[in-house]
Amino acid sequence: MNRTPLPPVMGWSTWNQFRQNISEALVLEIAHALVDAGFTKAGYQYLNLDDCWQATRRDTQGRLQFDAGLFPSREGLIPTLNALGLKVGLYSSAGALTCEDMPGSYGHEAIDAETFARWGVELLKYDYCHIVDMATDPHHTDDSFPTHTPPLLYIGIAADGALETQYPAAQAKLSGAARLEADGLHGLSCGQGNAAFAIQAPSAGTYHLSIGYTKSLALHERYVEIGIGGKTYEAWFPRSSGWSDTGRVHVDIQLEAGENVLTLYNPMRGQREDSIRRYRRMGDALKAATASSSAKPIAFSICEHGRTQPWTWAGRFASSWRIGPDISARWGSIMACYERAVSLLPYQQPGAYNDPDMLEVGIGSLTLAENRAHFSLWCMLSAPLVLGCDVRRFTAADLSEETRALHGILTNGEVIALNQDALYLQAKRIQSGEAMDVLLKPLLGGGMALCLLNKSDTAQTLPTLPLSTLAQADERIAGKGLGPFRWRNPWTGETGEHAQALESIQIAPHDVALFRLTPEA
Ligand code: GLA
Repeated sequence: MNRTPLPPVMGWSTWNQFRQNISEALVLEIAHALVDAGFTKAGYQYLNLDDCWQATRRDTQGRLQFDAGLFPSREGLIPTLNALGLKVGLYSSAGALTCEDMPGSYGHEAIDAETFARWGVELLKYDYCHIVDMATDPHHTDDSFPTHTPPLLYIGIAADGALETQYPAAQAKLSGAARLEADGLHGLSCGQGNAAFAIQAPSAGTYHLSIGYTKSLALHERYVEIGIGGKTYEAWFPRSSGWSDTGRVHVDIQLEAGENVLTLYNPMRGQREDSIRRYRRMGDALKAATASSSAKPIAFSICEHGRTQPWTWAGRFASSWRIGPDISARWGSIMACYERAVSLLPYQQPGAYNDPDMLEVGIGSLTLAENRAHFSLWCMLSAPLVLGCDVRRFTAADLSEETRALHGILTNGEVIALNQDALYLQAKRIQSGEAMDVLLKPLLGGGMALCLLNKSDTAQTLPTLPLSTLAQADERIAGKGLGPFRWRNPWTGETGEHAQALESIQIAPHDVALFRLTPEA
């Protein structure tokens, strides 16, 4: 990857607290609160409108549009938010609809990316709903998601305004499992074979390609890719069988003058390939829409819920990828998100982050210790820091002690600095027990952050922690962090010098102890 790494996104999103009940008035109040209560200054730059900012219909040009009743200024809201110092994020889905049944971007990637870029959007959260027909296929498993290619009969090529020339399947050069049977060409599915047609084009330009096929009753749309000299086109075959035995589908293609080889193949072995394709399409569309030097870059936040292991493929085009289902404001849910993220360390790269989901700090009935632990862990894990709580509570004239403490958690610059550190590396869990985990995060300049997490319901006291031994457990630090160390606890402000070890640290239930360690030698 040759892009300059960016730190994890920091911002606020409408979803966790407000769900579908959002409006321009609310968003403006939140935006002002983010500024007035010091959140923008602390680094929370993005304001993301999650699901339900859209109207349920595209406009006459096929463009997504704001729900004009809820957002009377429509996209005019974006410059207003920019003027407050905020970057604006929007939400869409890689399916036909979003999770709240608004229009999704599938099949509209180019026009949507272009619309977002033109509006000045700087973050796209891209969800994974309505991907397959949920009525017939509620489980989304690979087995139930074959995406096969039907038997192919011929391809036809026509220049605009000219008659089609047909090339029957028998003329194709077949490889792998590809074979000709009475009803057409079989064996292209699941990357098992391909068929190459050599065709002649009188001149370079756009041509209409038709693909004839034998129909059969199918639960899903079926698919084939057409490779032509390094370019890939996609063709989809409808689900129903229709009234006749054969059908044809169309794609516009570019040909060179003279001989062109059209290779038909289908790399999709199941839902994983399909998912990659959907997200790659939007990633490419965003790249194209923001290619000019005057365009604002759009951070691409993939929200695929971990169904097809996005950590194995999303780093190529996304800034972050959700690794599991939605978080909720319960300690158990926060621990489940943490567990998944901590185990996915090998997949994180600078600029591309595991996303255990948005912050629940300040929502529901988490204790202060739980809020502090949740926030510390997300910082250690280099997770996107996206607030979900109603930040208007932080602007009241007279803050309660609890509200002040929550504000202190969310705006603690030293803890945020761990998340945004310019080595861009997520913490490694170097010890794990029933009650306690120990995490280490390498920092720019040779330092490291140490986080001791008490997962249990009882207070824990840790015996002596020899720091250089701990440092040796992380190969990214080993050899550098030999100490002695200066340390500072960013939550309590306590500090120490010339430390070889930390002694008898007490940690309350569901809480953390956090240290920034700097080698003195
Ligand atoms: C999914 C996502 C959530 C939120 C909703 C909106 O559940 O995981 O974060 O975006 O959709 O409908």
